Amino acid sequence: MQSVEVVHEDRATVHPTTAHRTTTAHRLLPPSSGVVSTGTGSVGGPQPCTRHTASGLIYFSSVSDNTHRFVQKLGVDSARIPLYSSEETLLANRPYVLVLPTYGGETGHGAVPKQVIRFLNVEQNRSLIRGVVGAGNTNFGETYCLAGDIVAAKCTVPLLYRFELMGTSRDVDRVNQGLDTFWTRLSQHLP
Ligand SMILES: Cc1cc2nc3c(=O)[nH]c(=O)nc-3n(C[C@H](O)[C@H](O)[C@H](O)COP(=O)(O)O)c2cc1C
Repeated sequence: MQSVEVVHEDRATVHPTTAHRTTTAHRLLPPSSGVVSTGTGSVGGPQPCTRHTASGLIYFSSVSDNTHRFVQKLGVDSARIPLYSSEETLLANRPYVLVLPTYGGETGHGAVPKQVIRFLNVEQNRSLIRGVVGAGNTNFGETYCLAGDIVAAKCTVPLLYRFELMGTSRDVDRVNQGLDTFWTRLSQHLP
């Protein structure tokens, strides 16, 4: 298995060495359905999970919406992991890249938002993740974008990029270009 380095960023080191899955490599699909509720009942354990998504980019963003604003600027088809536990989590039905902010504080405890943990507790969602983009704030020093590192390591997929808050226009360009390259390489089984 080859590693894939998609994009670089200035502030922190991207770790491109994590092996990614080679199964179900695919090409970026045309803009598709986003989230569709099918009402098919529970999937992957006790969590109800009937909101299927065919988006290649899935993200979490809290009420402060920084990550949401960054994703909107990318202009790609995307699906947002629900904020409230009363809402069903998503069920991915194609490979995707996950974008998530860190909420650990200086201790790093609880860095991965619980909504993301709930989403990744669904086996199908874990099996379809292909890469991670981390968001955070450099004011947090050592724990900058820690949640991205944690999820990438746990799911053995590459951490593709890190950005701060809602990202700069340069971040947007780099992530867009990087994702295109990433999906193309995966579809062609290239390093
Ligand atoms: C309570 C709290 C803890 C945070 N902890 C971290 C942290 O450990 N590392 C980091 O890089 N950013 C941390 N952040 C910054 C957020 O990751 C950052 O503001 C992010 O843009 C929030 O995204 P969202 O608005 O989409 O939820 C923290 C923010 C808050 C409010």
